[in-house]
Amino acid sequence: MASIAFSDTPEHVPSDLLVDVDIYAPPGFEEDYHQAWAALQAANAPLVWTPRNEGHWVALGGEVMAEVQSDWERFSNRVIVLPKSIGELHGLIPTTIDPPEHRPYRKLLNANLQPAAIRGLHEEIRATAIELIESFRADGHCNFTESYASVLPIRIFLALVGLPESDAVKIRLWAESMTRPDPVMPFADARQAFFDYLDPIISDRRANPGEDMLSLMLAADLDGRKLTQDEALALSTQVLIAGVDTVVNFLSFVMLELARKPDARAALQENPAGMPAATNELFRRFGLVTIAREVRNDIDFHGVQLKAGDMVAIPTAVHGIDPEVNACPMDLDFTRKRPRHSAFGSGPHMCPGQELARSEVAITLQEWLARIPDFEVAPDSDLSTRPGIVGCIERLCLKWSA
Ligand code: HEM
Repeated sequence: MASIAFSDTPEHVPSDLLVDVDIYAPPGFEEDYHQAWAALQAANAPLVWTPRNEGHWVALGGEVMAEVQSDWERFSNRVIVLPKSIGELHGLIPTTIDPPEHRPYRKLLNANLQPAAIRGLHEEIRATAIELIESFRADGHCNFTESYASVLPIRIFLALVGLPESDAVKIRLWAESMTRPDPVMPFADARQAFFDYLDPIISDRRANPGEDMLSLMLAADLDGRKLTQDEALALSTQVLIAGVDTVVNFLSFVMLELARKPDARAALQENPAGMPAATNELFRRFGLVTIAREVRNDIDFHGVQLKAGDMVAIPTAVHGIDPEVNACPMDLDFTRKRPRHSAFGSGPHMCPGQELARSEVAITLQEWLARIPDFEVAPDSDLSTRPGIVGCIERLCLKWSA
């Protein structure tokens, strides 16, 4: 990483809190995304300032990060993507709206993503998982990223909103392009492409509603009115961004860990009833979303002066892996009592899709381990990671005895 000048640092930032870190590429992230955050956390104050990405704070302490994330009265969601000049253009809902305006949109999302609604998708998730695993099981190897992780979440998203499976490839590309700073396609182009694709579909669903989430959101009462076309586009696009790339990459982090840890695989197989708790421990260990908040007013925050308009990066991974939050945090321990983490955020914007994400991961593990109990990392893997809002593994290949 080329060095960068600290000369533009705002006057209110003390020099002992200056750290040259690119939140999309923390030092060592190419080898291990989570170790990179752990090392940065261990070496620095809980809140530091970096000149990268137009200059902003980074909450590295687990509890400090969680506080910034959930305290919407001091830290706004108006801009949640860095650099700020790009984040200003994001404009998706409800992520960029604060309470109380945020609440009606959340009611809509919660109604459609609550556990009872997601249980209705379990059969679809299971059938898709089995179909994908069986398509390569006899080969004794697979490109897990391409043949499983990249396929399952988009197919479930399409089933959720009632879109045809034949559109999966282009929609997946748009979703990925909206979560990487150096994508094949810039954020605004990918968002526009998805808007153009969805616009006629939304109009048609208003006229001919089905049972899918899109139809239900369009028909729902939003404080005495219906969603406008623009709102429907921004809300559906947010669900796509939030619900696809996250699961794709989380699955890869989990399978990489399990490929390396026979004991962890055995523990999962021996205790199927413990799967929900085990899944939660995996989310604690492998948080992967890095977003931001905007400081609303000048404040003193843990002895540091923050100015209105300052941006604070919130790498959600740092909460679960902070040794002051969870003992021996880099160890995967399925018997851990009350693991604490922010993989799904906290506060008013806490992920409404977590039930779906947890189901996709738990069902994957059940069906995979029942068919391929032992597996290891294959040499054609590329375990490097690309910068982005969502941590990722470039290519995980697995092998086993067929
Ligand atoms: C590994 C899987 C996932 C992770 C780690 C994850 C993580 C997160 C995080 C950290 C936030 C909070 C953003 C903030 O505080 O500003 C969030 C919000 C959100 N997530 Fe998830 N998510 C996952 C899967 C999903 C899925 C499957 C869906 C839906 C199908 C979804 C839909 C959303 C939406 C719509 C929001 C915005 C909520 C709001 O602003 O009120 N997510 N997610």
